[in-house]
Amino acid sequence: MKILRKTKPSVSFDFTWKAISFSRVVFPFLLLSIFSNVPSLYAGAEISGEGKCPQPRKTKPAPEKFYSAKNPLKLTPEILEEGEMLYHFDVPVMQCEKCHGKNGNGFGIMAWSLRPKPRNFLCKKSMRKVSDGQIFWTIKNGVRRTGCLPNRSLSDDQVWKLVHYVRELSKGTHN
Ligand code: HEC
Repeated sequence: MKILRKTKPSVSFDFTWKAISFSRVVFPFLLLSIFSNVPSLYAGAEISGEGKCPQPRKTKPAPEKFYSAKNPLKLTPEILEEGEMLYHFDVPVMQCEKCHGKNGNGFGIMAWSLRPKPRNFLCKKSMRKVSDGQIFWTIKNGVRRTGCLPNRSLSDDQVWKLVHYVRELSKGTHN
């Protein structure tokens, strides 16, 4: 027996059209807007703020010889710029800004997953205790049992340029 195909009522056509436009346009847009906010939700939406201050500090002091070392590079705009480029882009694998934040407030994109939280360079109270030599040591060796990775491929000069940049960030607004 031949089954006659029913013609679809126009209401149902309308409904499918709406469903398609929802799944193709609205739904991906919803997903995108939710996921693009996840890092800021976890970081307490402070991505561009001044960060937490004062902060607990887990990093151990560097050996005396390193702790009291002075930066051998004179601070010039060029050196500072190279430090800045390293901090944001040129350090291999995981650049400092991913954890310590674009403006140094400790709320980088990775910060939500880390315990303890990355150092907030804008916090003068914490940074006052951190000597240039200590920053050098930390960058070279990382901080054990935190996410702060060692950077053995960087030359001493590159690390000292980073030290200048971190110091410059910590001249920020916090007291
Ligand atoms: C994967 C995340 C991560 C990256 C990448 C990272 N850090 Fe850290 N950093 C941390 C964490 C976590 C701490 C520990 C904070 C504490 O002591 O409680 C820390 C601590 C520090 C400290 C504090 C040292 C002290 O004695 O208090 C300095 C300075 C520092 N990092 C500089 C850097 C610089 C410069 C870079 C880039 C070369 C960098 N870090 C890359 C997560 C990171």
